[in-house]
Amino acid sequence: AQQPLVLGIESSCDETGVGIVRGTTLLTNTVSSSMEEHVRFGGVIPEIASRAHLDAFVPTLQESLHEAGVTLEEIDAIAVTSGPGLAGALMVGVCAAKALAVATGKPLYAINHLVAHVGVGLLDPRPGQDGKPDAGAAAGLGAGQLPENLGALLVSGGHTEILRIRSITEDVELLGSTIDDAAGEAYDKVARILGLGYPGGPAIDKLARQGNPKSIRFPRGLTQPKYMGTAEEKGPHRYDWSFSGLKTAVARCVEQFEARGEDVPVADIAAAFQEAVVDVITSKAILACKENGITDLLLGGGVAANSRLRELTGQRCTSAGIKLHVPPLDLCTDNGAMVAALGAQLIMAGVGPSGVEFAPDSSMP
Ligand code: KG4
Ligand code: ZN
Repeated sequence: AQQPLVLGIESSCDETGVGIVRGTTLLTNTVSSSMEEHVRFGGVIPEIASRAHLDAFVPTLQESLHEAGVTLEEIDAIAVTSGPGLAGALMVGVCAAKALAVATGKPLYAINHLVAHVGVGLLDPRPGQDGKPDAGAAAGLGAGQLPENLGALLVSGGHTEILRIRSITEDVELLGSTIDDAAGEAYDKVARILGLGYPGGPAIDKLARQGNPKSIRFPRGLTQPKYMGTAEEKGPHRYDWSFSGLKTAVARCVEQFEARGEDVPVADIAAAFQEAVVDVITSKAILACKENGITDLLLGGGVAANSRLRELTGQRCTSAGIKLHVPPLDLCTDNGAMVAALGAQLIMAGVGPSGVEFAPDSSMP
């Protein structure tokens, strides 16, 4: 099919997503989240997430088909996230996708979740309420046609990566990544230390606006010369991040205020923490872009919702002459449309299906 009708299934973490695309046109993006069930534990509990996927899958599928006005018989192919992610959670989506593929005889595509975060940027701009493409909805990558020198900065609760994308169907190169916690995970852990609840990203983002980011200077991980090296002789972690030391520094800072019997300046700490995270993410990402000839950068993942990250990435990209592309928020966080979008790209590039023999791979590179 020239414009294949593809159903995409996502279940790698706490979002059960089913999305449908026709070629590069987004038809529906239906997401059900089990986040509320994890709140009291202060983090995603894999067992609960898996059960929630099982509960939510069929209703989410039905709603997505209904909204798109298509039947399962009309679908040309099924795409499913096969990794990376939580093993049990992935298994629910993969089992469901295999069952659908076997029952309907449709081809099945196993999708890398991280590449799908980039693939979503290839969808056409969505028409806004007035029928015109709404300004925020276009990632601006151009339907199906990648800018020649494209990079992607993916920042979420599970990943923090800078990628170089030569071809979305076969050639994605990891330039740098976190060596410990993901950025979103750091937000969540620090929010817990500050007593702000879970998920911590939005809470810190909001509180940080009332604080002074310069009041405390928290460490920027892996920025010492032994890790950075030089442009000619790159150090071992030039484009990598580390956030676990930062989390410890925040904990120690809180303890010091408490030991002195002083009020903990929560807003200042939140602001200073956020500045440290956002500063080191953007500075290293832009360095990687500059040194690898990347001229277009796509920002994705749940932390792409962060106001300071969006602001500073925008400013630094402008100074560096890099064109920044930010998909709308509902397509930045985990969803099925991104899986369908990448599936459609694979089909249009002539890539064959995966068959039904593959297993989910929680640590897929
Ligand atoms: O992409 P996502 O929905 O799921 C994963 O694949 O992890 O990202 C969720 C993460 C959580 O850690 C959450 O705290 C963080 O994104 N997050 C934010 C903001 N909104 C969500 N972090 C910082 N600022 C935000 N405004
Ligand atoms: Zn994700």
